[in-house]
Amino acid sequence: MKDYGFKVTAAGRINLIGEHVDYCGGKVMPAAISLKNTVYVRPNGTNKINLSWTTLPDKVSLDIDNLQNYKDLKYGNYQAGAALIWQKAGHKICGCDMLQDCTVPFGSGLSSSAAIEVSTIAALAAVAGERADPVDVALKAQTAEREYTGVNCGIMDQYASACGKKDHVMLLDCNTLECEYLPLRLGDYYLIIANCNKPHNLIESKYNERRAETEEALKLLRQKIDINCLANLTPSQFKSYGTGLPRILKKRVGHVVGECERVRVAAQALKAGNMEILGRLLNLSHASLRDDYEVTGREPDALVEAAQKQSCCLGSRLIGGGFGGCTISLVKTSSVDDFKEFVYGAYLKATGYKATFYNSDIEDGLTITKL
Ligand code: GLA
Repeated sequence: MKDYGFKVTAAGRINLIGEHVDYCGGKVMPAAISLKNTVYVRPNGTNKINLSWTTLPDKVSLDIDNLQNYKDLKYGNYQAGAALIWQKAGHKICGCDMLQDCTVPFGSGLSSSAAIEVSTIAALAAVAGERADPVDVALKAQTAEREYTGVNCGIMDQYASACGKKDHVMLLDCNTLECEYLPLRLGDYYLIIANCNKPHNLIESKYNERRAETEEALKLLRQKIDINCLANLTPSQFKSYGTGLPRILKKRVGHVVGECERVRVAAQALKAGNMEILGRLLNLSHASLRDDYEVTGREPDALVEAAQKQSCCLGSRLIGGGFGGCTISLVKTSSVDDFKEFVYGAYLKATGYKATFYNSDIEDGLTITKL
């Protein structure tokens, strides 16, 4: 890769806890992982961004003056969207060749899309001689996801991908973007990531539906109480004011209020090194995503159930947008191999799908290296 000018990497992410609360102004606890998107970039003196991939035969050429035209591409649409939003924000886009190498499995709930958007913007800035601020890159990447690909997402994934720090989780306030980095010290335990490998479709529409439900609930609640986001509703306010909500909206708000509370306690448990409490919170989070937020599904539920049956596992839950994707489990380090073997077998038996396991090594989010 010596003939490229820069190597830019942006990470996929896990989320310890705080699911489906980022777009409600809540706190989340993501971390950047070693699965990432790498972009090798060099200027090419044309008005095209030429994309190629290490793992795909496709080659795509994006015309810098018509970046809005690539929404329907199977591969290259995230890059086009990221470039367009960066351009609209007033940045110079140079013609360049970009070789992309993505180790984040697509559609797995580990934020391959955020990793692609963040690394593409940072690569465009690098090749244009700009020093991009990671938070700004994250915000533009989020805008690209919302406006170009139509997923009305929160800021968690792009922020984690751009601002993650080795061996730390981020306690990120999605209302203010204040971020506290907490060392991920799990004592004798380790986080195992497992992919349920069920292809999920409709995730975008269901995700947008959940988001719309929370917005509707906020509107109704604001007729009675002065809050600027759902995450500001306390459990006791929910008790008093939640009763008037339509049944489904009440369940959704119940999840948000409970999950925000769990994030608060999980941060304390992590700081105190109390893995039992952390594990219990993971289990409660999954139950709430399954029963109240209704974003899990047969396969993720089976995977979590198999994990929770193991005495070496303190807690397990689905992460990300849901309807498939990955789980994390807090497992005694000395029992990791037995855990994987049991969960693999039990999950296969229950669903017919083969789970894949990944290490949860926590890395820096964004790196830019001059070659
Ligand atoms: C997706 C979105 C995030 C967040 C999670 C759920 O990953 O991109 O913004 O809402 O779902 O926590």
